[in-house]
Amino acid sequence: MPLSKALALKSIYRLHQESALGDKGFLRFESDPQQPILEIARGLGELFEAENIASVQTLVPKMNADEQDNTYSGNFGLDVFPFHTDLAHWYVPPRYILLRCVNPAEHVATKLIDRRSILDEQMRDLMNRAHFRSRKRLDRKTCLLKILHNNLFRWDSLYITPANKAGIELKNIIDERIQLVKPKEIFLDKCGDCILVDNWRMLHGRGSINNDSMHRKIQRVYFKEVRF
Ligand SMILES: [Fe+2]
Repeated sequence: MPLSKALALKSIYRLHQESALGDKGFLRFESDPQQPILEIARGLGELFEAENIASVQTLVPKMNADEQDNTYSGNFGLDVFPFHTDLAHWYVPPRYILLRCVNPAEHVATKLIDRRSILDEQMRDLMNRAHFRSRKRLDRKTCLLKILHNNLFRWDSLYITPANKAGIELKNIIDERIQLVKPKEIFLDKCGDCILVDNWRMLHGRGSINNDSMHRKIQRVYFKEVRF
């Protein structure tokens, strides 16, 4: 067996037993900090390929004044990042997100909220009627988006905006419920710590960054599918 595959399998076997991706919507595990993230990622599943998205993205704290206003850092800088799913304005966002700690900042939490704790059956009719669209037109077409389409949930108060009255009503309800739910807090506080998140199910956010946490560095990989 090639070394890379053996190492990837070893990482999988070290998955925290109490966490099951299907049950919780996320999975924590440790990886060898020396192992390239792409080796780990390719052992986990099929990467999400897109022309303008790097296979491995590096996330570091940034001051908002230095960033473009179409990024989270450009809007929120070192403050708390509000709950969202990644690339919610894309017609089909990546299914899973892998975050891996390169430089830990022990007091900065990755926060997660399960869509199941903010959506309920009584909202189904409203969700069917509610339309959203990308905040900025990516091209001449405006693609109308549903918050929940089959198994695909999306939410982002920055990148998508209501396109009709039902959308405004739904946005108000979701914003209110997000405030009421207690999120799960994950601390990637060791080099190699990983979390795999179901991006069609879980909202995520980030805690604020203080002066002692400016060294925080996280790698991110998007997946089309994972093998579990
Ligand atoms: Fe994100």
